[in-house]
Amino acid sequence: MEPLVLGIETSCDETAVGIVRGDVLLSEAIASSAPEHARFGGVVPEVASRAHLDAMVPMLDLACRRAGVVPSDLDAIAVTSGPGLVGALLVGAASAKALAVSLDKPLYGVNHLAAHVAVDRLEHGPLPEPLVALLVSGGHSSLLLIPDITSDVRPLGATIDDAAGEAFDKVARLLGLPFPGGPAIDAAARNGDALFVDFPRGLTAPKDREQHRFDFSFSGLKTAVARWVEAQQRAGVSISVPDVSASFQEAVVDVLVAKALDACAEHASKDLLIGGGVAANSRLRAFAVQRAADVGVRVRVPRPGLCTDNGAMVAALGGLVVQRGIHPSALGFPSTSHQPVHDVVLP
Ligand code: KG4
Ligand code: ZN
Repeated sequence: MEPLVLGIETSCDETAVGIVRGDVLLSEAIASSAPEHARFGGVVPEVASRAHLDAMVPMLDLACRRAGVVPSDLDAIAVTSGPGLVGALLVGAASAKALAVSLDKPLYGVNHLAAHVAVDRLEHGPLPEPLVALLVSGGHSSLLLIPDITSDVRPLGATIDDAAGEAFDKVARLLGLPFPGGPAIDAAARNGDALFVDFPRGLTAPKDREQHRFDFSFSGLKTAVARWVEAQQRAGVSISVPDVSASFQEAVVDVLVAKALDACAEHASKDLLIGGGVAANSRLRAFAVQRAADVGVRVRVPRPGLCTDNGAMVAALGGLVVQRGIHPSALGFPSTSHQPVHDVVLP
């Protein structure tokens, strides 16, 4: 029988637990502290940590109940060790360590970004190798080349300033939309004109090709939206939130898809996986599928609930790691805000 693995995710504001057996997702339980951060326009680390403490045991209980298993049935426990907010990560890691010790089960401290990729096996089956992955969320925007998701993940590029999701959140705030901004902009943009304003496409000039071919920059775009909005306000012109949302979203999506497909061409990958919270964006999904089809690349995007942070992704990666016979992490493994993406499983 394939291994029964429980995954714990607490790197940001979701307290999430998932249980998988092989490629099959048995259950999920998730509590979010997002409403508690909304009035600050961003995640407040200390508030997130305290919320994790309250939610952890109830989510563990719920996930086990939904899967119809008891903790002693588990073959292994996996937990996000980084990157993320350290105080938040520590709650998940401490819980996982306590569970592993009390149950005498192997424990794996795994990389959050690799987990965003691995989750797609639960929906679309085994991951193709090699694979190019575009990971876009509130905390990260990276392009990865992945010969083997359990042991060989290579960074091709990343944002040099704001993450894509951060740009959505900041622009939403500017437009008076609620936090998190991504879903709000996505919804507003459905009724807007993407050609309304021609916002800048960061790091796509010919001169950027040498040094930043696979890197992203969104802070210039955010500033351009802010300037545009200010200019309209000064002129006494009312702003069409749907049109600005659609134009901003188009600028982000255009760059993300162009660079991801360029990476596929450069590394001879016929498969592109898009993950992370921003992969829930409806325009990104549609645009990527359309552009990729033109160049013979297959696109895999997990369903929106598996794109945003969740426990199933950690369990999915944990399950693969167990199947490949990788050694469990030492009980003293650290929780680190900047765990490099090539550290898939901590020793
Ligand atoms: O992966 P995630 O849940 O958490 C992090 O690890 O950051 O991503 C959250 C981010 C937020 O910035 C949110 O605004 C963005 O993902 N997001 C979206 C959409 N849904 C969530 N961005 C654009 N369009 C969406 N539909
Ligand atoms: Zn994430």
